[in-house]
Amino acid sequence: DTLRRKLENIILIGMPGSGKTTLARLLARDLGRECLDCDEEFLRRTGLTAEEFLIKQGETAFREMETEILRDLGKRWGTVLSTGGGCVTRPENRALLRQNGRVLWLQRDPDKLALSGRPLLRNTTPRALYEARKNLYADFCDEAASNNADPARGLAQIKEILEKS
Ligand code: S3P
Repeated sequence: DTLRRKLENIILIGMPGSGKTTLARLLARDLGRECLDCDEEFLRRTGLTAEEFLIKQGETAFREMETEILRDLGKRWGTVLSTGGGCVTRPENRALLRQNGRVLWLQRDPDKLALSGRPLLRNTTPRALYEARKNLYADFCDEAASNNADPARGLAQIKEILEKS
């Protein structure tokens, strides 16, 4: 229904470097909504950036904190939320994101991802990580939006999808 549509969070998932943070900000400004960012919330809660926390505390602790953050942020209404690219690796996060949210998978060609200095990519390639995760993104999302050009184009794609349904 339309009231729920107006109030539900718009949540961006997708590979690291696919433009989630940039487009969440643009979309929030465009719609006059508050913008939340899971990675920024790490900094607020722990004093470390998401990347620093991941390196220092390891992936298990990182994923636990990420789930805690998503549980809290997912309870909000009317926001645009940018997630960390690996949130789909924990099945329980799916329901947390969808509790009040409409989940959009921001798709960008793996060769175009902005991935310098990402700790998780030290032992793999963007394409291998994408292959390992693409079914998870597909399963978590309500809809997919492509972001293969500039941010303005990506924003237009997202808005088209939001207005369609
Ligand atoms: C991760 C992506 C990062 C950050 C962390 C782990 C991942 O977020 O949460 O480094 O597993 O893909 P971005 O997708 O915002 O880069």
